[in-house]
Amino acid sequence: MIMRNKALRQFGPGVNIFDMMSTLHEKYGSIVKLQGVFARSDLVILYEPEHIDQVFRSQEANPLRPGFQTLEYYREVIKKGSLDGIYGLTTAQGEKWRDFRTKVNPALLKLKLVKVYAPPLEEIAQDLVQRIRRYKDDTKYLEKNFDLEITKWSLESVAYVALGSRLGCLGDDVTKDHPGFTLLQCSKDIMDLAFKLEFLPSMWKYIATPAYKKIIRTYDKQWEISTKYIEEARKRINERGYDIPEEEKSVVERLLAIDEKVAILMANEMLFAGIDTVSFVATSIIYNLARHPEKQQKLREEIRSPDTHKRYLRACLKEALRMWHVIPSNLRRTDRDHYVAGYHIPAGPRAKEFIPERWLADKNDPLYYGNAPAIVTLPFGFGIRSCIGRRIAELEIETLIKKLFDEFEVTWEGPPIKVVTKVGNTFVEPYNFRFKSIK
Ligand code: HEM
Repeated sequence: MIMRNKALRQFGPGVNIFDMMSTLHEKYGSIVKLQGVFARSDLVILYEPEHIDQVFRSQEANPLRPGFQTLEYYREVIKKGSLDGIYGLTTAQGEKWRDFRTKVNPALLKLKLVKVYAPPLEEIAQDLVQRIRRYKDDTKYLEKNFDLEITKWSLESVAYVALGSRLGCLGDDVTKDHPGFTLLQCSKDIMDLAFKLEFLPSMWKYIATPAYKKIIRTYDKQWEISTKYIEEARKRINERGYDIPEEEKSVVERLLAIDEKVAILMANEMLFAGIDTVSFVATSIIYNLARHPEKQQKLREEIRSPDTHKRYLRACLKEALRMWHVIPSNLRRTDRDHYVAGYHIPAGPRAKEFIPERWLADKNDPLYYGNAPAIVTLPFGFGIRSCIGRRIAELEIETLIKKLFDEFEVTWEGPPIKVVTKVGNTFVEPYNFRFKSIK
């Protein structure tokens, strides 16, 4: 095991986690320890699949995930009275987490229940396609605003699943004072500020720094807007005055029947955790296909074929998730000693290339994904604490990608896209996509 404090200096604005992790790996080996500063725990980075597996599995019953300490503080201390000890999935630990997760799992992860959102998600994806159609010749607009457009789509989609109605962010006459825009901004600010406060050196645990004050204001704003939307959803449900089949209910309606506080917090977290994550992955697929016209054409043929099993689409989604993880690190807080020896992870076959075919290749093919240990790519995390939005996210993204590549030929004109790490990874403008209608 090699430990170096100075490795911490490599964190900084504009950092890209993939480069940083490779550099640390090359320099220090397969186990790297970053010493905690300002009341923060030490961080040990593991590169060896067996070691990752060993640590994850040791916590299978009750996984502890650190992070979002400012949100934890906000909910535990600042919002103490109103939330009454329920902290939501992102911040709860131990029995509290298990109880919450047991209540929400069926509503969010049952594939049959998630699939009922397919028709409204199609409509929302169609709205984005229509907006791109309108702006496709205004490359200056898209270079700057592609991210805004795609995050409006991901917010609109996840909000529909959570609340059962449209927010209207993708409309033509939407102005910047639409509350949806504030939610988008809150989600970005939280990523940015939480990274500064919780990953870079910060004194916020001792003094209220400007970034700390800003994140608390942002949590307040995000809470205020999301509860307003949740209240509206509740009012609509009450005014309807009759029950509807379970499969047609929004997540909030399903959960209100079980536990009111859990329903509110789950919907609140969806309106934050389901925006930039989903838009990042959708952008990553569009970008990779724009850079690989032959794969784009192969996908288009599948989209247009009558076969309902869109296997290549699924492979493209998996490949994009594998190449650039949204959440740059799968964190666990250790609750016991681990004894892990250090050696390098062998690079997976052509690991840096976008090759969706690896997910379809058979066992004899050197590309076969099973040749690399599954543990090296965990885009949705691990085990029972893994992402609860997974099914929803996959459905949203596949729906959009089908529509988009049916409608447009997409190219990328410019230098490779840049990834910058906040709490999640983000792409940065300019978005050099060019969309050509082909329908
Ligand atoms: C492609 C999009 C997404 C990716 C790649 C992603 C990835 C992740 C990852 C890696 C984790 C940590 C898992 C772990 O610690 O093992 C996580 C947790 C979580 N995600 Fe997602 N996510 C996505 C979309 C969503 C959506 C749409 C929602 C909204 C429903 C969501 C809500 C959450 C929540 C609430 C947690 C905490 C779960 C817990 O601790 O029990 N995510 N996500």
